[in-house]
Amino acid sequence: MLSSAETIELFRRYVIGNYTRFPVCLVRGEGSYVWDAEGNRYLDLFPGWGCNLLGHCPPRVVRAVQEQVAQLIHVPNTWYMEAQGRLAQALSERTGWGGQCFFCNSGAEANEAAIKLARLHGQPGRYKIISTVNSFHGRTYGALSATGQPKYHQGLGPLLAGFRYAPFGDLSATAQLVDDETCAILVEPIQGEGGINLPPAGYLEGLRALADQHRLLLIFDEVQCGMGRTGRWFAAQHWNVKPDVMTLAKALAGGVAAGAMIARPEIAALLKPGLHAATFGGNPLACRAALATIETIEAEGLLDRATHLGQRFRARFEALRARCPWIQDVRVQGAMIGLELSVDGGPIVQLCLERRLLVNCTHGHVIRLLPALTLTDAQLEEGCDVLEDVLLTYRP
Ligand SMILES: Cc1ncc(COP(=O)(O)O)c(C=O)c1O
Repeated sequence: MLSSAETIELFRRYVIGNYTRFPVCLVRGEGSYVWDAEGNRYLDLFPGWGCNLLGHCPPRVVRAVQEQVAQLIHVPNTWYMEAQGRLAQALSERTGWGGQCFFCNSGAEANEAAIKLARLHGQPGRYKIISTVNSFHGRTYGALSATGQPKYHQGLGPLLAGFRYAPFGDLSATAQLVDDETCAILVEPIQGEGGINLPPAGYLEGLRALADQHRLLLIFDEVQCGMGRTGRWFAAQHWNVKPDVMTLAKALAGGVAAGAMIARPEIAALLKPGLHAATFGGNPLACRAALATIETIEAEGLLDRATHLGQRFRARFEALRARCPWIQDVRVQGAMIGLELSVDGGPIVQLCLERRLLVNCTHGHVIRLLPALTLTDAQLEEGCDVLEDVLLTYRP
């Protein structure tokens, strides 16, 4: 096996440098631990950037993939596949509003499908989509244009026409952006990349009413907050609001690449053959992994576990906030945790890494944790102890 340094050298020579990477090569994972090429173990409170909802290598997902890979890896969507049908049923039954699925491989792709559907629904003449400031919807041109953060747009214009951005949580600003050409509202029920921002009371309900009033599609991007992470299957279920279209990816298949768009059947019917496709979308491997993910969440009671983890993290960080001058706010919904700091979060992430704890910083100054729902209480305390020590001893 190569050392971390040898792998890093390969990257320097042959891999495009579009990511900022930590100088560590990871080689193995189990639950909430990962190991590097030198054998060092890390506690991972941000496994797979939110994809590894069940931790690294969850046994049911591993077994399902191993079984499927020897049976049928990939067949195109010119054929029927049982696993895709069963996954569509499983997701539809858990939305609370039914829905039919289109499968793809990533969050950006799922949002591209939703944007197409919104435009088809808006015909004739309506094409504008209202999204939110500080949102994140992905890096392809439609999803990027929907993303309300200018830093991601720099140098890439012109973007896809028709996107307008309202401050997250501001209903009247959203209403003011609606005009005769608006066809949809696209929102993360809980903003992830934007800093773990929870919707204020009445916001999602108000968006639903606004969409109904103007015959707009209400699209929820649950790529980061969906699939049980917040203690419900889908985050908007905390507020009892049902969208017309929902997008999923990240945790959908327990770490295997997969994305989905779910739409009310009458709207989904607008996607006629030939209008949209994804070669790898809904392949048997990804669908078996997703089915095993859902099975694990239910068999192990992980929705309740997400709620429990959220309560324990909140208690730890609220107590810490009283003692730590850098913590401005603690935002928690299940296993989606943000600590807003008054200082740059980058050095905090680095100091945690030196203590073999993996956390993330988003939006410059928000420490973001998206832990596995299988994180044990002991691991939670271990991680919080390190983060607490780092924050209490930190001097900018
Ligand atoms: C809410 C949300 N939507 C979409 C995306 C894009 O997903 P992907 O990177 O799989 O294209 C992300 C990724 O972080 C996300 O957090």
